[in-house]
Amino acid sequence: MNNIEKTFRTGILGVGKYLPERRLTNADLEKMIDTTDEWIVTRTGIKERRIARDDEAASDMAVKAAQVALKNAGLEAKDIELIIVATITPDMFFPSTACQLQYKLGITGVPAFDISVACSGYVYGLAIADQFIKSGLYKYALVVASEKLSTVTDWDDRSTCVLFGDGSGAAVLGRVDDGGIMAVSLGADGSKGNLLQLPAGGSRMPASKKTVEDKQHTIKMEGNVLFKHAVKIMAEAALDVTAKLGLKGEDIDIIIPHQANIRILNALAQRMGVDPDKKVYLNIYKYGNMSAASSAVALTEAVEEGRIKKGDTILMDAFGGGLTWGALVIKW
Ligand code: ACO
Repeated sequence: MNNIEKTFRTGILGVGKYLPERRLTNADLEKMIDTTDEWIVTRTGIKERRIARDDEAASDMAVKAAQVALKNAGLEAKDIELIIVATITPDMFFPSTACQLQYKLGITGVPAFDISVACSGYVYGLAIADQFIKSGLYKYALVVASEKLSTVTDWDDRSTCVLFGDGSGAAVLGRVDDGGIMAVSLGADGSKGNLLQLPAGGSRMPASKKTVEDKQHTIKMEGNVLFKHAVKIMAEAALDVTAKLGLKGEDIDIIIPHQANIRILNALAQRMGVDPDKKVYLNIYKYGNMSAASSAVALTEAVEEGRIKKGDTILMDAFGGGLTWGALVIKW
């Protein structure tokens, strides 16, 4: 039943993750390209990343993360009324990965769609689902971020191939009596889209023998320019969303950021005036940058490890290609 006269609070009822088994370590990369473990660790904080199997697409990982999130929420797939998948590595252009996920969950009828917001996709997805729950239109929503970046990585380009990994994280959202998603700040700047892109395969540069030979189907990134934007924009998004609630760094119990580079996260901690070791959740060292899935897996692991307790104030903060950014404050 739709009830759009009332406003509800949206909480995260359960989270889940799926990481492929195969680990690609920095030592493995040393054998593939001209790099060193020392360079990768000091410049990025990454020690290893996961690589999905050939037969594992984004929706295969998504369904596994979603099933864990549903179990942790104490719900079944048939309870879900909305499915949003954040991905830049969908199974295919269409049908959407969200529709594939819906089918794999064994449900039909409920709306399902993908969002393409790169690394900010999970935060955007939570913010979108929040609107549907708050309005009373839906009771339960599933937001999944699933990425198989290994398929769009140029394994000869040492400046990017050391960074990315595969994985999936999910959240079930529903009504709560108090707390939940307290404030949202989203943004984008299309004028800087060229800093991080996958040029070919779309209507601008359709797939051809030449695009494949020129490796135009892989991630192209201007890392050091992007780095400066990431530091500035992640801090601005964090300050904007916390200001909406009159919160300061000391009021935040834990920051769950997108995991692109440990140096970006240390700079964020400094801007927020918090101790990075105590208040910034970090798992980049074991998974690398999984785009939208990074913050989804980070939130899941922070919950699993007991780093998030009932009543805690959580700041989620992401930045990615587009450019896009998004921050949320959640009272757990
Ligand atoms: N191993 C060894 N040397 C390397 C490697 C490598 N893997 N990669 C680059 N280098 C070299 C470069 O060739 C360069 O050498 P040179 O000085 O002789 O020319 C030197 O290291 C420095 O290169 P920079 O690119 O300037 O290195 P930087 O310190 O900027 O680190 C990095 C690169 C890690 C990519 C960093 O710029 C970064 O993290 N950028 C931000 C990424 C980001 O935020 N992405 C957004 C989200 S991702 C998404 O939306 C999918």
